[in-house]
Amino acid sequence: MRLYKAMDYQEMSRKAAHVISAQVILKPDCVLGLATGSSPIGTYKQLIQWHQKGELDFSQVKTANLDEYKGLTRDNDQSYYYFMYHNFFKDINIDMANTNIPDGTNPDSAAECARYDKVVSDLGGVDLQLLGLGRNGHIGFNEPGDAFAKGTHCINLQPSTIDANKRFFASIDDVPKQAYTMGIKTIMQAKKILLVVSGEDKAKALYDCICGPITPQVPGSILQLHSDVTVVADAAALSLFGDC
Ligand code: GLP
Repeated sequence: MRLYKAMDYQEMSRKAAHVISAQVILKPDCVLGLATGSSPIGTYKQLIQWHQKGELDFSQVKTANLDEYKGLTRDNDQSYYYFMYHNFFKDINIDMANTNIPDGTNPDSAAECARYDKVVSDLGGVDLQLLGLGRNGHIGFNEPGDAFAKGTHCINLQPSTIDANKRFFASIDDVPKQAYTMGIKTIMQAKKILLVVSGEDKAKALYDCICGPITPQVPGSILQLHSDVTVVADAAALSLFGDC
């Protein structure tokens, strides 16, 4: 595991964008696994800037997003489809037909999860998976539990996750209670993983992921078993690392 320390969110975003940009330059038709949330927004902004300067070409890139709220339509401004389109896809030259996100409007969880697993496997797997980290240590929407979930599954969001994500919704009652998410097996099968973490409220989760025991109670701790993980974190997120 490589750990890069950044001063702040902006520097973290730039360093993370460098890792993604290297992947796209070295393999123009790569499969990027993408994430939502506030953590990767700066990374997407930086990639957009480089693209607009003519330095990055996404025309052959394919993407597979980690997760989507169950029940939200694409045009709902809190859906992850909407997030990806407005924070990244609309400003780069990606072919939207090459982008993939679980379909939150499919009420049949088993069918949607099987469909999405097939999408990822038909892509030939993920070359570089970008991840944020939940305050409870979740990756994607793989919440703490008694076992690591393998493939794409429908998850009941934990009260702490609903609480953390309520800032994006008009009220806590509007936050969906379920989501479709890639499983831990799919995430771990990515050839490379890039974890971006910012802020003091993530310090404990990051410390537990990297320095703690590998346990499904801290889903991100499984990353310790992956052979090619790059963590880019800012000083605040690394504030507990004195004795790691
Ligand atoms: C959400 C997403 C995760 C994300 C996490 C952290 O629940 N499903 O993929 O990493 O929250 O979000 P943020 O970066 O906004 O703190």
